[in-house]
Amino acid sequence: MIQQNTPLLPYNTFGLAARAAHFTEVFSVRELQSALQSGIQPVLILGGGSNMLLTQDVSGLVIKNAIGGMELVRTAGNTVLVKVGGGVVWHDFVCWVVDKGYGGIENLSLIPGTVGAAPVQNIGAYGVELKDVFVELEAVELAGRQLHVFNHADCRFGYRDSIFKHENKGKYCITSVTFALTRQDHQLHLSYGDIQKTLESNGVTQPAIADVSKAVIQIRSSKLPDPAVIGNCGSFFKNPETDRAVLEKIRLSHPQVVSYNLPDGRVKIPAGWLIEQCGWKGKRVGNTGCYEKQALVLVNYGGATGSEVKNLAYAIIDSVERTFGIRLEPEVNIF
Ligand code: EPU
Repeated sequence: MIQQNTPLLPYNTFGLAARAAHFTEVFSVRELQSALQSGIQPVLILGGGSNMLLTQDVSGLVIKNAIGGMELVRTAGNTVLVKVGGGVVWHDFVCWVVDKGYGGIENLSLIPGTVGAAPVQNIGAYGVELKDVFVELEAVELAGRQLHVFNHADCRFGYRDSIFKHENKGKYCITSVTFALTRQDHQLHLSYGDIQKTLESNGVTQPAIADVSKAVIQIRSSKLPDPAVIGNCGSFFKNPETDRAVLEKIRLSHPQVVSYNLPDGRVKIPAGWLIEQCGWKGKRVGNTGCYEKQALVLVNYGGATGSEVKNLAYAIIDSVERTFGIRLEPEVNIF
């Protein structure tokens, strides 16, 4: 059933009031293929709407991917393969896995969005990225309606990046993703950020994966706004990668600059730090603002339009570029 003139407010975590000329929700690959057969163009696939800034109404067909299912495909030695529907809420999947005692994605707890959207930007947090546990995905090509399989190499994962942000942008709907997780002897990643400190304050000395998941949930909840309370899309910008010379120049005026070394000799500088130095952290502009506890996150205090958020984003980009000579790139998709 394709609806007309549908409000998209319930379907985007920024809480923006755009409308879709045509809208449908699909619960299976077959339903997706039949919606595509309507021929309405252009088609926009929505997952959890947690990485999308809607600056205008959408003229074509918006398809909300609600394809469910989580199944154990196979176990081999210490590895378990799990296949998950693209419409499953990411954190529901994490909870299911943690509950079963499988390891690999506990650091990715509480990331907003759906399983089908996760490979598009190779979601990551606290030293783990989706690509570390990814096996393959299935996706329907919007034009031909055929189901294709993409293996790890096909996806060309990078930092918050994949082929689905480049050549294949807007061309596929990811209907399932298969992950390889560990059954025991899990490789825990505890060195990033406050994980170790949080485990200690929870009195945990020998963490199980459920303890790590709980610690990540505590850290994220303390820094990042809950979209159900304040509209947002998590990190709005990517952390920029630059030449070491740029960092050294910044260090002259800001000796406390934060940076991470990259394998290729370049460096990554946290966008949150750059934005904070430019005085944006906690600043409110109309109904939008830069979040008070994490400058990388832009928020909708209620009633903001997508254009207002976009204007704030570009004011921040210009200001960081003027001050540091680094042009930030949005991580969020802007429509
Ligand atoms: N920082 C500041 N001011 C701020 C925010 C951060 O100075 O307002 C500095 C901190 O001092 C810290 C550094 O930036 O030294 C890193 O901060 P944090 O650990 O909070 O991580 P991030 O680099 O800002 C990235 C991801 C997050 C992810 C965290 C934890 C990107 C674009 N963002 O943020 O991902 O949760 O690391 O792994 O890579 C998301 O993508 O939606 C997201 C929340």
